[in-house]
Amino acid sequence: MKITSAEFITSAVTPSQYPDPLLPEVAFVGRSNVGKSSLINTLVNRKNLARTSNTPGRTQLVNFFEINKTLSFVDLPGYGYAKVPASVKKGWQAMIEGYLEGRESLRLVIVILDIRREPSENDNMLIEWLRSRNLSIALVLTKADKFSRSRAIMARRKTGEHLGIPHEELIPFSAKTRSGAGEVWRTIEAACFPVS
Ligand code: GTP
Ligand code: MG
Repeated sequence: MKITSAEFITSAVTPSQYPDPLLPEVAFVGRSNVGKSSLINTLVNRKNLARTSNTPGRTQLVNFFEINKTLSFVDLPGYGYAKVPASVKKGWQAMIEGYLEGRESLRLVIVILDIRREPSENDNMLIEWLRSRNLSIALVLTKADKFSRSRAIMARRKTGEHLGIPHEELIPFSAKTRSGAGEVWRTIEAACFPVS
């Protein structure tokens, strides 16, 4: 998709603070520091539209962006970051679940996994939960630049086996080289603008 505009709309904690659900929406979820915000920036060709950081736990609110006035992206806080107090963790969990549960305009959930790591218990639980709610999901294996091509192919196979899904469904991606961005866009467009 050719990007003509990409704007930050608002940050929210509770559903009453979400923008009206007028545009098809894509949510980005995954463990803390996996590269959710970087994926969003790469897709829209912006360096820092969604704020990124070396420190896990950068994104702490539900952030809404409007792309080309036709599509909405949602950057969610990461889960599984050990160093936050239990009370804060609970708050984030509630924020993520509250969003995913009740958003009528949600068309696709992009689950982001680090290509170098086996999916965690939290990743597995999230994927199962999304499936049980019949939400459309796409799986992106990010930081692919950290691996050689052959190791990336192996890791994709292994993750597919681990999750019990065909490895072809996993999209290798790198925010550094932009590889995979085209395929992620195609998946987004198919989910948000289906040809009827
Ligand atoms: P939280 O909001 O804290 O949950 O993190 P996040 O998932 O939004 O991750 P973010 O995009 O902030 O990236 C975390 C770190 O990983 C940053 O230092 C990024 O530069 C780095 N990073 C993200 N994607 C890639 C990638 O594809 N390749 C490489 N080499 N580094 C990446
Ligand atoms: Mg982030």
